[in-house]
Amino acid sequence: MFSKKKPFNPETDLEDLTGKVAFVTGGNRGIGYHTVKHLARKGATVYLGSRSEEAGKAAVEALEKEGIGKGKVVFTWCDFGTPDKAKESGEKLLSQIDRLDILVLSGALLSDPRLKHLDDIIQSNHFGNLKLLLTLLPLLEETSDKYGEARAVLVTSMAHTLSRAKDPNIQFKSSDDFKRDFTSDGKIKAAFGYYAISKLCQLMAHVALHKRNTHPNLLFIAADPGAVNTWSDSYFITRMLSPLINLFFVTAEVGSYNSLFCAASPKVRDEKEAYVGKFLKPVGKVSPMGANVTVERSEEMLDTSIACFDKEGMFPLLPRKEEGSK
Ligand SMILES: NC(=O)c1ccc[n+]([C@@H]2O[C@H](COP(=O)([O-])OP(=O)(O)OC[C@H]3O[C@@H](n4cnc5c(N)ncnc54)[C@H](OP(=O)(O)O)[C@@H]3O)[C@@H](O)[C@H]2O)c1
Repeated sequence: MFSKKKPFNPETDLEDLTGKVAFVTGGNRGIGYHTVKHLARKGATVYLGSRSEEAGKAAVEALEKEGIGKGKVVFTWCDFGTPDKAKESGEKLLSQIDRLDILVLSGALLSDPRLKHLDDIIQSNHFGNLKLLLTLLPLLEETSDKYGEARAVLVTSMAHTLSRAKDPNIQFKSSDDFKRDFTSDGKIKAAFGYYAISKLCQLMAHVALHKRNTHPNLLFIAADPGAVNTWSDSYFITRMLSPLINLFFVTAEVGSYNSLFCAASPKVRDEKEAYVGKFLKPVGKVSPMGANVTVERSEEMLDTSIACFDKEGMFPLLPRKEEGSK
């Protein structure tokens, strides 16, 4: 028989967040934008991270027009394109808040072959996001101890099981393992290869941080938003094909539901053992992680990554050709 399970509804399935402080990266558009909206509607003060002040402030204005209920949305500059900028972004946020109940790492570079430097996908999504998370971690820990709970939500992807990320021999034992050049694959395939690895590394870092976490009320969870159409407007052909694409992809709003479940569903607290440290498919369905995400390999990957932050000449990952040279 067909299941009678009700679809997820952020209005009724999330708890009241009055008094809580949340931070969402990539909040100016896509999945992050709608995540900000629903957290605010439940009463949270939500810091909307955007690397562009103009786009961030325009998003705050648009959200206020759409309606944010009893919550509040505040723009905060957040650029995780390099570890240094990510650290500065995190410190800027820390100077504005004294608690952080919910962190949603939603922002990322998608698999875009038009990017000038495709290796930036790993630099931003993995190294930038990790630096940001490590900068904010002490406040998440303190909040979880003082107020009884804090959540660190990673928006990742099934791409962590695909392309270059599914290589059973993949390893992250030294900084050189992050400096691999895939450009001979061709732009489209290379972009997806970098994206898949970036999502694998993000998930591994989350798994390792969860393993090492000594604060019982700090909850790490990873969410796959599903197949979400946040991209078809970026290309002429896909823009024309949008009606067809929309048959197979959900809207950005629906794409935010799994992040929201992780960030603010009371079920996560009530059934901690079931959800915390896990990877969830939409909405709220615990799913196996890719075979490369073992705890041992994840811890090794995290240690190598942290060592990379202090390594001279590590960033950018691949050498840049001088402008004008071939
Ligand atoms: N869409 C999907 O089908 C899908 C599927 C699986 C997983 N995901 C994951 O879901 C998350 C959100 O994706 P989305 O579809 O909402 O993407 P999106 O619409 O392309 O939005 C990406 C957001 O990330 C921001 N961003 C990118 N690089 C940044 C940087 N260096 N510093 C600060 N912000 C940066 C963008 O800011 P700008 O506006 O400044 O570029 C934008 O706000 C990502 O983690 C993605 O990997 C998406």
